[in-house]
Amino acid sequence: MNENNSKINASLFQCWVCESTLEPFMTFGRMPIANNFLSEKEFNDEYFFEMEPAFCNQCNTFQLVRQPEPQQMFNEKYAFFSGTSQFMGKHFEKFSKQVLSYLDEDPFVVEIGSNDGIMLSNFANKNIKHLGVEPSSNVAMVAKEKGINTTINFFDKDLAQKIVKGYGQASAFIAANVMCHIPYIKSIVEGIEVLLRPNGVVVFEEPYLGEVIDKTTYDQIYDEHTFLFSAHSVKYLFGQYDMELINLEPQATHGGSMRYTIARKGTRTINKTVNTILQSEEELGLNDPKTYLQFKQNCENDRIQLVNLLEQIRKKGKSISGYAATSKSTTITNYCGITTDLIDCIYDSTPIKQGQFNPGTHIPIRPHQEFKENYPDYAVLFGYNHSKEIFAKEQDFIEQGGKWIVYVPQIEII
Ligand code: SAM
Ligand code: TMP
Ligand code: ZN
Repeated sequence: MNENNSKINASLFQCWVCESTLEPFMTFGRMPIANNFLSEKEFNDEYFFEMEPAFCNQCNTFQLVRQPEPQQMFNEKYAFFSGTSQFMGKHFEKFSKQVLSYLDEDPFVVEIGSNDGIMLSNFANKNIKHLGVEPSSNVAMVAKEKGINTTINFFDKDLAQKIVKGYGQASAFIAANVMCHIPYIKSIVEGIEVLLRPNGVVVFEEPYLGEVIDKTTYDQIYDEHTFLFSAHSVKYLFGQYDMELINLEPQATHGGSMRYTIARKGTRTINKTVNTILQSEEELGLNDPKTYLQFKQNCENDRIQLVNLLEQIRKKGKSISGYAATSKSTTITNYCGITTDLIDCIYDSTPIKQGQFNPGTHIPIRPHQEFKENYPDYAVLFGYNHSKEIFAKEQDFIEQGGKWIVYVPQIEII
């Protein structure tokens, strides 16, 4: 595994995918580890890195030029438990049904980033041979306790070879919200090449670059997200290993994602949406460097607008809290400089985050039950990707005169 930063000199870096020379088009400034919720006594030792995105004109891959080491982010203290959202549970059940339709005889399904087993439980329940690969031991243990076969490991080419020796080749390699986390992505695809049966499929979904550019959802950019993929970048990446896109399906999850289905070249029919979406990316200017200069400007405008809004509300003596301490909110709070001057606390349903402070700007995280006991005048909806679920359970907040502040697709009070 190569987890070294791709630095060439102070301002030039090497593309993680094609090794071309890159220059970042902007900086978000000093950023902490997005899921490192911490206690007061840990403030002084908190880790920060300069978060700078770049776009590679050669392979069309949007990427961070530098990241913390994988072990700093994915370990026994990993704070993201997939099962906290019921909606995501249903989403992965549907995802699994699609994968089932591709399976051959005596199937074997491998998932990386299997977390607490939210996806693989759908295969385990059907007694389908499966293996989850999950380096964060706390979430992996939740899966194991549910009877889901899980190895506590980082996936890469070496591990793929071991899996083939122990279990044989896989009918399906699946992943959600993890392929974009891995800077040594070439070793992942080399691993897939070794692991996949000749007629196997790769199905994975990740936050989609097209949505981020279209809606200026810059909060999708944080330490874990080395990449924001597009159809063009995935086509290039897998094309290097004789594999091709056979389907593309936009998803509503995580504020706008894309599901990529891939097979060895010439083994499966290519759905016509592949070309349609490739063409729509050209029209959106996703491969044009000018798009990223405009994106930078849009981020700066959004930052000014959000901070102004919060300051005005505060000046009127009103209370503001945050709702859902998402990884994405770490980018918002740190890039905008939002501290307890503007937001009193963030309510969240994840026990491991409660009683801690958010990374970087150190806003206290409180149990979501306390929200109902002490409604603020305004609540910033950091968990906008879960808005349906949250609005449904927090109707009383609105009925009692509370107001939501949202910033996607635009900054507004609702
Ligand atoms: N798939 C789940 C979902 O969509 O809810 C979890 C996504 S979570 C954002 C990313 C997960 O990938 C974490 O549980 C992390 O520990 C895991 N991960 C990170 N690097 C990995 C690697 N190289 N191999 C396997 N899993 C990895
Ligand atoms: P995510 O956007 O990275 O999926 O993070 C979801 C966070 O939102 C997680 O910390 C749990 C929190 N959350 C709530 O506090 N209440 C809710 O109703 C939901 C769905 C999520
Ligand atoms: Zn490149």
